[in-house]
Amino acid sequence: MEFPRLLTLLLIVLEWTRPAVPSPLRPICDLRVLNHFIKEARDTEVAMKLCREGCSLSESVTVPQTRVDFDVWEKKNSSEKAQEVQSGLWLLQQAFGLLQSSVTNTELHSQIENSIRNLHSINAVLRSLNIQEYTPPASAPGLEGTWTVSSTMDLLQVHVNFLRGKVRLLLLDAQACQQDVS
Ligand SMILES: *[C@@H]1O[C@H](CO)[C@@H](O)[C@H](O)[C@H]1NC(C)=O
Repeated sequence: MEFPRLLTLLLIVLEWTRPAVPSPLRPICDLRVLNHFIKEARDTEVAMKLCREGCSLSESVTVPQTRVDFDVWEKKNSSEKAQEVQSGLWLLQQAFGLLQSSVTNTELHSQIENSIRNLHSINAVLRSLNIQEYTPPASAPGLEGTWTVSSTMDLLQVHVNFLRGKVRLLLLDAQACQQDVS
């Protein structure tokens, strides 16, 4: 992997997470950016495995389904896919916000902060692909296709699986990237 190039891409992404975003954005279709976030999500799992105290989630949280049924997924149109991924990312942001306020272990805490930043960066990547801005629902439990987890480890596993599954598929599907390939 050419690391300097990856870092440049990440910096561009982070630049885009600032409120006043100049448009139009150049689409980010490079999956190495997502792979980097997946790797960091795994690092957070490792920090959790080493965590002995101050590592627990104070209450259960709503999370997205991570299992991908390809027949169902393929039948969805692009705005339905985008909605599903965006609502999942939104749920994970809420859940990680709660996790951040529950965890006192220093190492795990900084990993969680990093994960939250990465979730914001993924939203910026989606915006770069002209995916419509997501409006969060009034209440999380009302969302379809969700379940709850009550342990930190379960939440971190959902995080990794969601990035590796639906987020990845959405990026592979994105029309802006299809054009880039051809
Ligand atoms: C996608 O499917 C949904 C639900 O069937 C429909 O309401 C929506 O208009 C469709 N969007 C596009 C862009 O085809």
